[in-house]
Amino acid sequence: MISKLLEWKTNEALAVGKGATVQQFVATVGDKRLEIDVAPWGEGHLKVNGREIAHIDDAKDRRQAFRDIKKIAERYIEAHMLKPETKSTSPMIPIVKAKLLEGKKGLIVGIANENSIAWGCAKAFRAFGAELAVTYLNDKAKKYVDPLARALEAPIVMPLDVSTPGQMEAVFERIAKDWGKLDFVVHSIAFSPKETLQGRVVDVSRDGFLTTMDVSCWTFMRMAHLAEPLMRKGGTLFTMTYYGSQMVVKNYNIMGVAKAALECAVRYMAAELGPKGIRVHAISPGPLSTRAASGIPEFDALLDKAKAKAPARSLVSIDDVGVATAFLAHDAARLITGETLYVDGGYHIID
Ligand SMILES: NC(=O)c1ccc[n+]([C@@H]2O[C@H](COP(=O)([O-])OP(=O)(O)OC[C@H]3O[C@@H](n4cnc5c(N)ncnc54)[C@H](O)[C@@H]3O)[C@@H](O)[C@H]2O)c1
Repeated sequence: MISKLLEWKTNEALAVGKGATVQQFVATVGDKRLEIDVAPWGEGHLKVNGREIAHIDDAKDRRQAFRDIKKIAERYIEAHMLKPETKSTSPMIPIVKAKLLEGKKGLIVGIANENSIAWGCAKAFRAFGAELAVTYLNDKAKKYVDPLARALEAPIVMPLDVSTPGQMEAVFERIAKDWGKLDFVVHSIAFSPKETLQGRVVDVSRDGFLTTMDVSCWTFMRMAHLAEPLMRKGGTLFTMTYYGSQMVVKNYNIMGVAKAALECAVRYMAAELGPKGIRVHAISPGPLSTRAASGIPEFDALLDKAKAKAPARSLVSIDDVGVATAFLAHDAARLITGETLYVDGGYHIID
């Protein structure tokens, strides 16, 4: 436990005048001396070997400032100092003070592991204060998803293979029973059988086409259908798409066809549900190395091209995608709907 490594002691040497208002706590780990200064009006500073690395000024009081800064110090030590074998492997949710989504409840579908885009979204939504229900594909996936669900403090964790009849309905029934409402859904799943995905569109079999469209597109429409009665005060529905819907991207093949249909479904559903205050968006991230992406041949070349060509000259992370998605769930985005939002460093505007 990091908290046991850090023994905070008050600084006896602190000048009396300053000590009357600002309190200082000191801890040493290895060659690092950590200092926390906290003031009664809720301001706090963290210094490591004399260099300030964190500052807060909006805590309720000194005690809360100390608690918040102490947490940052523990994360700093974990990230910078511990040997890999002593590092906690538990996933972490970032600390965000502004709980902009507090009181909102949402369903996240598509977490397979810590690389999943759905996990990036879940982290951001949780960090902003939302309460989450999460699903896992099957028993094999459960052991990877369980620790993430725990980190999210998710009160609802259920199996969901969209190809198993009744499982999607069961998830929404449980949400209706436990929460009685739903504010957002993140649909972050896609699937195409290998021979369908990796072959030419011209050659796709009827079965391959139907499976691809079913899992990657229709399930979003069905989730919208099941979410609608729970979104009595409005809500936001999200799905993940990719630029291969608009342009022919080498090796994206039939998934490009499915994503084009998905983006179109987003617009129709946004028009249909808009009068009820329900907004619908597709998020279009640049390429990310996830398990789903590993099914696309020469994916590394796609990453290299994205990095070289995007105006930002940078690949995106699942956290970038998560924060952008969370923004659209906020009431401040209430007049934005039917959008395909590119989170791709600007790649899609370049010829
Ligand atoms: N990785 C990328 O480069 C990229 C870029 C743009 C869009 N996307 C899209 O993002 C979404 C998430 O993919 P990811 O890249 O995070 O990969 P991922 O492998 O982490 O997630 C894909 C998810 O789909 C789920 N899934 C597949 N079949 C399912 C089924 N029958 N029932 C329920 N769940 C099922 C998997 O369990 C997994 O959780 C997909 O829609 C993908 O097309 C990915």
